[in-house]
Amino acid sequence: MSLLSGKKILLGVTAGIAAYKTANLVRLFIKSGAEVKVIMTPASKDFITPLTLSTLSKNPVHSTFYDKESENELWNNHVELGLWADIFLIAPATANTLSKMTNGVCDNLLIATYLSAKCKVFFAPAMDLDMYKHPSTLDSFKKLQNYGNVMIPATSGELASGLIGEGRMAEPEDIVAFIEQEIASSLPLYGKRFLITAGPTHEAIDPVRFIGNHSSGKMGFELAKAAANLGAEIFLVTGPTHQTIAHSFVHRIDVISAEDMYQACHQYFENIDVAICSAAVADYKPKNVASEKIKKKVATFNIPLEPTKDILKSLGVSKKHQFLVGFALETNDEVANAKSKIKRKNLDLIVLNSLRDKGAGFATDTNKVTIIDADYIGKDFTLKSKAAVAKDIINEIMQRIYA
Ligand code: CTP
Repeated sequence: MSLLSGKKILLGVTAGIAAYKTANLVRLFIKSGAEVKVIMTPASKDFITPLTLSTLSKNPVHSTFYDKESENELWNNHVELGLWADIFLIAPATANTLSKMTNGVCDNLLIATYLSAKCKVFFAPAMDLDMYKHPSTLDSFKKLQNYGNVMIPATSGELASGLIGEGRMAEPEDIVAFIEQEIASSLPLYGKRFLITAGPTHEAIDPVRFIGNHSSGKMGFELAKAAANLGAEIFLVTGPTHQTIAHSFVHRIDVISAEDMYQACHQYFENIDVAICSAAVADYKPKNVASEKIKKKVATFNIPLEPTKDILKSLGVSKKHQFLVGFALETNDEVANAKSKIKRKNLDLIVLNSLRDKGAGFATDTNKVTIIDADYIGKDFTLKSKAAVAKDIINEIMQRIYA
């Protein structure tokens, strides 16, 4: 998942040698789940073919106001294209196009579309050393930025002329990361760091056996996604699970046992703003782990157990500025038990699920929760998908950290 997922991206290609990089750029946008349309200036077709970009973007490429060869000569509506886009990127942006856009010289479809666009417009300039430093180019940069556009700085290196210096278009991966960062900076959780625990833990009995539980990890992963989509940076400490997450703002830390999870959580906790412990941590572990596989010998077999460390409680002890959220899975006296956990573990919020509610719990795709805060004010939510529950939880946290 990426912040670009579902976004409509309009890519304007102008006539610079760096146009060859736009094939990769389109591929990266598509891979991140965005919808892409491309407008090329007529001269840019000398550098990369419309066929390449239409194939990669899965959309026809537009270049002129109407297609002379086409029988019905349909007008390419620049206003429609400009309004369609959530993000407009001009890459590579040549000195010529930058200057014409600065002054509203509207002699091609790309510039007409730029003048009609209402979304944020990014420019990835590419030109030779002296052109990049020329006062008229610098003037274009300044004016376009004053109009609310965003410049993605060119980098230094070997240029097509053979000269070495500033003027290389940023690499496609860096352009994507730059745009993602820009989107994130306008999101409500930007700059906040979350620690989230997820999944079960496995407590080894011997090299092949363990004590575990049915936690799927889904709730924790949905929480990570929901907070990351609002711009937060996530440290997701997860026990063994089949869940996957590919989000540029999520750092996944895989652990096996409660002890591993405890160590990982304490490593990150100091610099965290919000910690949510949704993992189903084993309460007990075998006192001794056999170094060899235990052989079947006797009719009954006892495994002495000892308590694991309570991670949430230990975070409650270390807590300074952090907002701490726990989960409680109960079968009886639900609210009273949850409230006592808030006190015992020094929590700011607890998410209660009752096993008496059908569809709630840790091995389902849905959940039904009651969220109770440190003032014991509770809010009941209906049965929902775990993705929707995650959004509710993050929303409740946001209301309190920004109160
Ligand atoms: N938790 C934890 N470390 C543990 C056990 C639990 O971090 N070793 C966290 C869970 O992630 C959850 C919360 O504590 O957020 C509540 O877990 P739960 O098992 O319901 O609470 P316990 O304190 O173990 O109480 P009990 O089992 O007696 O209900």
